[in-house]
Amino acid sequence: MSEGTAAAPLGTKADPIVFDHESPEYAARWAEEFRAIRESRCPIAWSGAHGGYFVPSRYHDIVAIAQDSQTFSSAKQVDALTGNVTGGVLIPTIPVPTAYPIETDRPAWDAYRGFINRRFAPKAAEARRDFARRHASLLLDQVTETGEIDFVADLTGPLPAIVTMEMMGLPLADWRDFAEPLHEIIYTPKESPEFAGVALRFQAMFDRCLVELRRYRELPPQDNLLSAFAHEPFEGRLLTDDEVLGYCNNILSGGVDTTTALTTNVLVYLWRNPDERQRLIDDPALLPTAREEFVRFFAPQHAVARNCTRDTEVGGVPIAAGDRIYMPWGAGNRDPAVFEDPDRIDMARFPNRHIGFGAGAHRCVGSFIARVMFEEMIKQVLARIPDYRIDFARARRYRSIGIINGWMNMPATFTPRPRLSREAPG
Ligand code: HEM
Repeated sequence: MSEGTAAAPLGTKADPIVFDHESPEYAARWAEEFRAIRESRCPIAWSGAHGGYFVPSRYHDIVAIAQDSQTFSSAKQVDALTGNVTGGVLIPTIPVPTAYPIETDRPAWDAYRGFINRRFAPKAAEARRDFARRHASLLLDQVTETGEIDFVADLTGPLPAIVTMEMMGLPLADWRDFAEPLHEIIYTPKESPEFAGVALRFQAMFDRCLVELRRYRELPPQDNLLSAFAHEPFEGRLLTDDEVLGYCNNILSGGVDTTTALTTNVLVYLWRNPDERQRLIDDPALLPTAREEFVRFFAPQHAVARNCTRDTEVGGVPIAAGDRIYMPWGAGNRDPAVFEDPDRIDMARFPNRHIGFGAGAHRCVGSFIARVMFEEMIKQVLARIPDYRIDFARARRYRSIGIINGWMNMPATFTPRPRLSREAPG
């Protein structure tokens, strides 16, 4: 955040702060930017970027907004005639179909979220642990003999894609057709020459979801999400194709690259801090508290947006109907009023009321399966290639981390080891 010339900006609409979550400055200094806003005269400040939006910086303000989903809407409106899109959870708004349930409000949200809750419950996530472990191991088998890995391309990207595809009932043999576009769509700049190709491959993924949905409609019910979408009654009817695609969009886009980003950031941290790496190896019982601390610290899903539906006030700041709000979970997670020494990773931190999985109604439905996938990837790396060394000079961060705090690649080397299996992942 720029402090202005004569005096720091007030952070009001008349005197906005200079803040853009899509900028390289944000990627480099986001924690400092939020500290400055938090300590300023206006801890819920107005930025003029992207048509203007509020930036709350304190934990309690962010939670208060997330918990009042009537006033602070997530719903997206698509004009049937013009195709114009307003609202939704992304700043800037992009013209893609509504994601379910994340871009719906109560009472519709209750029905959409209720329809999938059971399939993401702790027991359902735990039931996938062996599958996640086996695939993390098979993915490592592809590289262990070479002594070289790109963590993102070879492990942290593919594993969440494969596990999520298995939950959905998508064909695992084609995991590359999903893992790659889900990652590329996040980091490829929209104005770059590559974007058109990435967008086509991203769209092909949803075309494939539709083909599979139609196939499941012809088959007896099976135990996966697409089959449930095809057969189970929703409010006394079957879901439309658009609703199913909205679910696919939310579950695939919301679930895969977030877990990739978390695990990649943690692998970097453990490489930079060999004592911490050894501590996790020596004491695996630390993993659950360490995992929550990593979600707090890195906030892999950095933020979403909300849309104010009526004139109101939060923390003394007036917010008007129609105003947009950027909801930085990462800022709340670094608030010293809630977390002691918030800019330090404490793998034993407990309690840890972080908001890395959100807060309020829309809190992440995939948090349990995300935890399972993360743990199995980290455990496999620490068991099989514990001496990995990251070639950080060749690592590239996302140009914009305002939505996902991730890395395009993460090359590393390690002492080569025999593979455990000749089986291919997927
Ligand atoms: C470390 C990994 C993950 C992080 C940090 C994360 C973070 C979040 C956050 C912050 C939200 C709240 C969004 C809001 O308030 O608008 C959310 C919602 C959601 N997440 Fe995750 N997520 C992760 C993994 C997953 C996975 C693995 C899945 C599915 C396979 C998933 C599916 C969803 C869905 C469907 C929602 C929308 C829930 C609703 O609107 O009711 N997430 N996630």
